Amino acid sequence: MINFVSKVAVFAFALTYSLQFVELVSGFRHWKWSSTSGKVNPLENDISALVTNLPGQPKVDFRHYAGYVTVNRTNGRALFYWFYEAASRPDEKPLVLWLNGGPGCSSVGYGATQEIGPFIVDTNGHGLKFNPSSWNKEANMLFLESPVGVGFSYSNTSTDYAKLGDDFTANDAYSFLHEWFIKFPSYRNRSFYIAGESYAGKYVPELAELVHDRNKDPSLHIDLKGILLGNPETSDADDWRGIVDYAWSHAVVSDETHKIIKENCDFNSNNIWDNEDCNKAVSELFDQYKEIDIYSLYTSVCIAESASSGDDDSYQVMMKRSSTMMPRIMGGYYDPCLDEYAKAFYNRLDVQKALHVSDGVHLRNWTICNLKIFNNWTDSKPSVLPIYKKLIAAGLRIWVYSGDTDGRVPVLSTRYSLSSLGLNITKAWRPWYHQKQVSGWFQEYEGLTFATFRGAGHAVPCFKPNNSLAFFTSFLNGESPPSTRS
Ligand SMILES: *[C@@H]1O[C@H](CO)[C@@H](O)[C@H](O)[C@H]1NC(C)=O
Ligand SMILES: *[C@@H]1O[C@H](CO)[C@@H](O)[C@H](O)[C@H]1NC(C)=O
Ligand SMILES: *[C@@H]1O[C@H](CO)[C@@H](O)[C@H](O)[C@H]1NC(C)=O
Ligand SMILES: *[C@@H]1O[C@H](CO)[C@@H](O)[C@H](O)[C@H]1NC(C)=O
Ligand SMILES: *[C@@H]1O[C@H](CO)[C@@H](O)[C@H](O)[C@H]1NC(C)=O
Ligand SMILES: *[C@@H]1O[C@H](CO)[C@@H](O)[C@H](O)[C@H]1NC(C)=O
Ligand SMILES: *[C@@H]1O[C@H](CO)[C@@H](O)[C@H](O)[C@H]1NC(C)=O
Repeated sequence: MINFVSKVAVFAFALTYSLQFVELVSGFRHWKWSSTSGKVNPLENDISALVTNLPGQPKVDFRHYAGYVTVNRTNGRALFYWFYEAASRPDEKPLVLWLNGGPGCSSVGYGATQEIGPFIVDTNGHGLKFNPSSWNKEANMLFLESPVGVGFSYSNTSTDYAKLGDDFTANDAYSFLHEWFIKFPSYRNRSFYIAGESYAGKYVPELAELVHDRNKDPSLHIDLKGILLGNPETSDADDWRGIVDYAWSHAVVSDETHKIIKENCDFNSNNIWDNEDCNKAVSELFDQYKEIDIYSLYTSVCIAESASSGDDDSYQVMMKRSSTMMPRIMGGYYDPCLDEYAKAFYNRLDVQKALHVSDGVHLRNWTICNLKIFNNWTDSKPSVLPIYKKLIAAGLRIWVYSGDTDGRVPVLSTRYSLSSLGLNITKAWRPWYHQKQVSGWFQEYEGLTFATFRGAGHAVPCFKPNNSLAFFTSFLNGESPPSTRS
């Protein structure tokens, strides 16, 4: 059934692309024309998108920009971004696109304001606090709410929402990049990386593949250097095996339940959930996880009254038994109540006006995750490992990290996935250090680096901000993480 739907979506995309191509190419002519005067002045970047009066914003020395980029004029689709220039020497630093997953969750609500951005939403949505471990210390950071329907991003054509899937998302994100470069020409030729976590484990390689393929046309060339993935959904069958074994090895389910799953669930099958015993045992596993925080096994759950249920309930683990899709991810946080603060903050009219989302009169409805998108996702690649192989062959840098207290995309899922890639090891398993402590372990393969974060949940930077920034720096420099205690 899922196969049928995704074929329809792919067909729709073939049409979409040929038309968008025309838009992109004409956009490029404009861009080329505007940059004939030699070196681009950063002030040529879209000044109208400069954020100047964000309520509660700590004072900073770098510029940041927010607003919409139209990705499809016919249907009226626009994606919202928030872009922070690097805190120092932005013209010498790379450009990094960050994506959160869901599908249906916001990179602004999670990535930018709970994880790695310079402004973290403070309690009660009344303001922001400065994040000294922001990744914009090392790179120009671009956060994109994708696809349409997520956060502030929208389509004026409601039927678009029924078509959302991996392909749709990658194509719109790709159009976004080109349109964004027209607004920000000083980043057009910059070294570029794509990073993300959880369901973005699918988005990131898919977008990277699209960039790589389209780069064959020199006029569309983007200087993609590598990708960075955190607790990424990668290969559904391997991911499932990891969830089950991790829950058992971390004393979340009984030996009996684990045994039933091992004997009855064929995660390579298209009909996993037709097996009643498998179905019941996996439900039992998720029932146990409902009692704790599956994204961070050893921290407390949010017990604020407002966070219990509702349309955008982020805490619920979803199961779709009619397909082989993973029950998808709707969370990951440090302060388990932070999702609520973000919601309060982004639904303020003054905040929306400052971010160029609203005219200051009409309020937009912002939610951190959109369950309708989550429930209506039409196509999801069962595995992105073939894309890994292609990108490795193309010489791109691929780093994968995993917080080892996450039960949702546990470290075992990632290890099973990478193991099925069968890459040769170039540097054997060993600890990596931060401030004289073991921050985790890592192993290097031909074309890929894998590292763990000891004691971090699903959204690693929330739990280990300084370690994450150090790791990100190693990634950008293409150097192994520090493997001595000095
Ligand atoms: C806009 O999107 C629609 C639906 O996805 C597609 O049919 C159309 O061709 C797209 N238009 C352009 C200019 O790409
Ligand atoms: C969507 O429709 C509104 C209202 O007509 C319009 O102002 C806006 O520009 C449209 N968005 C896009 C991306 O075309
Ligand atoms: C980017 O690279 C292209 C092709 O090498 C060149 O024509 C263009 O001037 C460069 N643009 C900027 C802004 O440096
Ligand atoms: C915003 O979303 C809430 C919950 O989905 C809904 O009840 C409300 O009507 C929406 N408001 C607007 C202005 O769309
Ligand atoms: C999924 O999309 C269909 C068609 O647009 C819509 O009728 C339905 O309400 C959507 N389902 C959910 C759960 O949002
Ligand atoms: C691993 O290394 C061996 C020996 O150098 C080589 O023959 C083989 O092709 C390599 N495998 C991969 C997957 O690169
Ligand atoms: C993390 O880094 C910040 C900024 O450099 C520093 O102020 C803070 O003390 C560090 N925290 C820890 C736990 O090392």
